[in-house]
Amino acid sequence: MLNNSKWISYPEMQGTSCPVFKRVINKKEGLVRATLKLSALGCYYATIDGIRVGDFILAPGFTSRHRAQVQEYDITSMLKEKSELLITLSQGWFKGRLNWRVNAEMKDVYPSIIGEVMLRYANGSVEYIYTNGEWQCSKSKITMADIYDGEHYDSTLEESFGPVRVNDYSHSRLCKQQGPFVCEMERILPHRIFKTPKGEVVIDFNQNLTGYFEIKLNAKRGDRVSLSFAEVLDKDGNFYTENYRSAKSEFVYTCDEGYQEYKPKLTFYGFRYIRVNEFPCDIEPENITAIVVHSDIKRTGYLNSSSPLLNKLFSNIIWGQKGNFLDIPTDCPQRDERMGWTGDAQVFVRTASYNFDVEKFFEKWLTDLRIDQGKDGYVPFVIPQAWGDDWSGCGWGDASVICPWQIYLTYGNVDILKKQYRSMCSYLKYIATHSKDKYLWTGCEHFGDWLGLDAPAGSYKGSSNEDFLASAFYYYSTGIVCKAGKIIGKDVAKYEKLRENILSAIRKRFPSYNTQTECVIALHFGIAENKVSVAKRLATMIKENGTRLKTGFLGTPYLLHALSDNGYSDLAYSLLLQEEFPSWLYSVKQGATTIWEHWDGINDKGDFWSKDMNSFNHYAYGSVADWVFGVGCGIKTVEDKPGFEEIVIAPVPTKKLKHLSAKIETRRGLVSSAWYLEGNSFRYEITTPTKATIIIDGVTYQVEKGSYVF
Ligand code: BGC
Repeated sequence: MLNNSKWISYPEMQGTSCPVFKRVINKKEGLVRATLKLSALGCYYATIDGIRVGDFILAPGFTSRHRAQVQEYDITSMLKEKSELLITLSQGWFKGRLNWRVNAEMKDVYPSIIGEVMLRYANGSVEYIYTNGEWQCSKSKITMADIYDGEHYDSTLEESFGPVRVNDYSHSRLCKQQGPFVCEMERILPHRIFKTPKGEVVIDFNQNLTGYFEIKLNAKRGDRVSLSFAEVLDKDGNFYTENYRSAKSEFVYTCDEGYQEYKPKLTFYGFRYIRVNEFPCDIEPENITAIVVHSDIKRTGYLNSSSPLLNKLFSNIIWGQKGNFLDIPTDCPQRDERMGWTGDAQVFVRTASYNFDVEKFFEKWLTDLRIDQGKDGYVPFVIPQAWGDDWSGCGWGDASVICPWQIYLTYGNVDILKKQYRSMCSYLKYIATHSKDKYLWTGCEHFGDWLGLDAPAGSYKGSSNEDFLASAFYYYSTGIVCKAGKIIGKDVAKYEKLRENILSAIRKRFPSYNTQTECVIALHFGIAENKVSVAKRLATMIKENGTRLKTGFLGTPYLLHALSDNGYSDLAYSLLLQEEFPSWLYSVKQGATTIWEHWDGINDKGDFWSKDMNSFNHYAYGSVADWVFGVGCGIKTVEDKPGFEEIVIAPVPTKKLKHLSAKIETRRGLVSSAWYLEGNSFRYEITTPTKATIIIDGVTYQVEKGSYVF
């Protein structure tokens, strides 16, 4: 790919200041088509005669350091007789301070661009312009761009072009664009502009979001705009940024003379509030608009209920996904992480795949997982592996198995199983070769039931036994590998045997379960021998805790499932609808507009849980939506007829609500399931795009495509 082009960079390492590369394109008579192919080690922003090329924000995206996607743009209509192509480059995800791995392993690699312009004429001739030593470069007006720290732009600077540095980097890391583009998806006007008790001017967009903003203003040359970003106000109503940790997340703009508009080009922010540190005039709503940026994925899933609080939770889950599906599934979009944490992605993938069409999105991310996976099978805990040591933790590494399986179930994508199968198997091998005990996963480091509320003082990890959790995930993932292998025609006898051996080893070693999460996992993974008594124990623990949960990242996604699968649907609904801390609706009552990382991100006194680990846009606990889709409204995929080729619809209603409904726009058409409490009984309205098994009050109906009322 791009074999005749060279990687070119600024002659010296630029750090966070952004060089700009220039090439004049001369168009001749009879041009029929012109394309620009481009990639970078870093992030680029390209213009032709001042107009942006394409709509991919932060192109070429965030991938494994071992590959870079190439984008292709049709630029035919942009070209004049003589046009100027400018490409501004930041370190981006590749070399910015967030990428420990590249900074350690590829310290001497310069952020670079590579590309080619193709001009095809009516007479059949084709002309190419390659990136090479004929290009010129200069420092640009973007004096600082960094994923964590924001952007500085100085309109008063003059560019001064000189020779580029030509780098002899290999072309082998170049690959075709695989994921959806990251785009500007929505605009949000200021909800209010106000003064905090400290006297600071703050703009509230009334929605925690990820992206940037556009400013429009009249100014004098040299005037400054300076803005800061926050997700929440503190209990006194003041602007609060400590939870961004070292991410400076700032915007500084030096104005030109007269009317001007500007949007940041090479960064993004996670924010609901913007503090106006400097602005040439009193800021008015028309001076600023927020722009929501995320991967261009199509919304497919909708939930609705008779409870306004629950509906707000559903909205927060959607916003959590929008805010964190920015080329990769990130943990959070604001502090100095924004990483593709595998555990978070695994926890949320089912909900994610119902809410939006994320098939391509996960195909790309899982390709990076495969590429960055260690030779011994370890799955880095963030993908792309920008961070980290070379080990896997349970529930995090399992993303390599659980995510492809879910993409198969939701979209009927068998290919993803074929592509990921080796990676899945080698993850199992990693466990086997690192465990202290055969058929278990013991003696290793894990993140455990991360942020579980039964954590010992000073720890982030819930108190569930990690050897048990790890062995249970080993069992669960082995089960998926057996199913996936069979589907793609592999001999899985070895894994079936392994699965049996793991189960008996776990049952022998861990005969009882002492935390909510341990019970949940034992039930949901089919480990508990006496389900009735384990479910009862779980129910008792929850009730004794005031009908409240204590689970963290590993227990929470399966908590309601474990209850409703074992005769405790009523208790599952009580937890879903619990408004007191800790619960899903507690944050909603506290004014959340996205999902919080912590059940007690802000406690009932208005204090923050902590400074260092307190994101207000962390989608993991939003995984509860898959229970509402799959159990509350009862829409279930069928393992051997995936992609909703056949559907089971078995709603579980409650008199605690008057109404609950779910819709998913599947590849086969719309499936929807709604129920309404009418007097003392329920009316069900179900639409299926394909053959379905509908189960209402224990009665089974086999139906063809159509709409039904029960
Ligand atoms: C991230 C998480 C992640 C965790 C791993 C955190 O810092 O934000 O969401 O899964 O570390 O323990």
